[in-house]
Amino acid sequence: MMAWTDRHCRTFHRLIAPHAWLYTEMVVADAICFGRAHRLLEHGEHERPVVQQLGGNDPYLLSQASLVAEKNGFDAINLNVGCPSDRVHQGAFGACLMLQPKLVAECIKRMCDTVSIPVTVKCRLGVDDHASYGKLAEFVGYVSEAGARLFVVHARKAILTGLSPAQNRAIPPLDYDQVEQLKADFPSLAIILNGGLNDTQKVKQVLEWADGVMIGRAAYQNPGFLRELDLTLYPEKQLDNFQSLLNQYMAYMESELDQGVRLHEMTRHLFGLFHGLPGARQYRRYLSEYALLKGAGIDTFIRACAKVDRRAA
Ligand SMILES: Cc1cc2nc3c(=O)[nH]c(=O)nc-3n(C[C@H](O)[C@H](O)[C@H](O)COP(=O)(O)O)c2cc1C
Repeated sequence: MMAWTDRHCRTFHRLIAPHAWLYTEMVVADAICFGRAHRLLEHGEHERPVVQQLGGNDPYLLSQASLVAEKNGFDAINLNVGCPSDRVHQGAFGACLMLQPKLVAECIKRMCDTVSIPVTVKCRLGVDDHASYGKLAEFVGYVSEAGARLFVVHARKAILTGLSPAQNRAIPPLDYDQVEQLKADFPSLAIILNGGLNDTQKVKQVLEWADGVMIGRAAYQNPGFLRELDLTLYPEKQLDNFQSLLNQYMAYMESELDQGVRLHEMTRHLFGLFHGLPGARQYRRYLSEYALLKGAGIDTFIRACAKVDRRAA
C-alpha cells in the first residue's frame, strides 16, 4: 500500500505475522527501469516471503522491471490492475487496464517469459459501467491463459471519475459472491479475496472457499488483528509474546537509527500498536510530537509506550 507498506512496515508485520505474504507499495515499472531501482526495491531478507507490486502497461518495461525485482530477491511479482487514482488513470495503468484484458495478457505473458518467480495480478470486480461478472470472468480468462495463476480480487468495482482513491475503497459496494463464483469457475487458479476483511470469523468463513485473503487497512491500523489472525490460522506455531516482538522491532529500529533513518519513518507504522488500550491516544500524540524531531532516538519510543496501560492487553 502506497506510503504504508515500506520496508519498515513490512519488517514490523513480518514479526507479528510470520506466515503472511507481504506486499510492497506499487512501484511503476518505468521508475525501476530508468530510475533508482536499488532504492525503490530496498528490502531485507527477513521480510520474505515478499511480493513486489508493479504498475505499468508496457509489456517490455514490465518484464524488465520484473527481472530486476527477481534479481533483487523478491518472491513474486504482482501487477496492479486495481488502482483507481487520477494519476495512475492518466498514466493508463492500474484499474483502467481491466478494460484492456488483451493488453494485460500481453504484459503478463512477457513478464512470465522473463522471470521464473510467479507473476500474479491484483484487480477489481470491474470498472465504471463495465462491471459485470461476465467481463470479470473474461478478464481472468485472458490473463490466466497468459500465465497468471493467482488473482487478488478487491471485491468492489473502481469508479474512475469523481471519486478519490479513499472513496473508491468505501463507496462502491463489496460483492464477495462474484469472487466466490470466480473460484468456482476457475478452480485451478488461486483466488485471493480482498476488501473489508476486519475480523477473524469473517476471514475463516471466506477461507472455506477462497485460497487466501489479502488484508489492507485492518492489518495496518490494528496490528493486533493481524497478529491474532496469524495465531488463529497457524495455531501450531506460537508467536513470541508481545513484549518480545516489540523488543525485536526496537532492536531493528536502533540499527536503522544508527544508519541515519529517522525515528518517525519507523514509528509512524506503529500508531495502531496499542489499538483500544487506555493511553493509546497519549502514545500516538507523544509520537506525533517527538518522533519527528531531529535526533529522536529509541528512548522517545520507550517514553511513548509508557503512556499506555497495557494490563488490559
Ligand atoms: C493508503 C493506502 C494505499 C494503498 N496502496 C495500494 C497499492 O499501492 N497497491 C494496491 O494494490 N492497493 C493499494 N491499496 C488498496 C489496498 O491494497 C486494498 O485493496 C484496499 O484497501 C481494500 O482492502 P482493505 O479493505 O483490506 O483495506 C491501498 C490502500 C490504502 C489505504
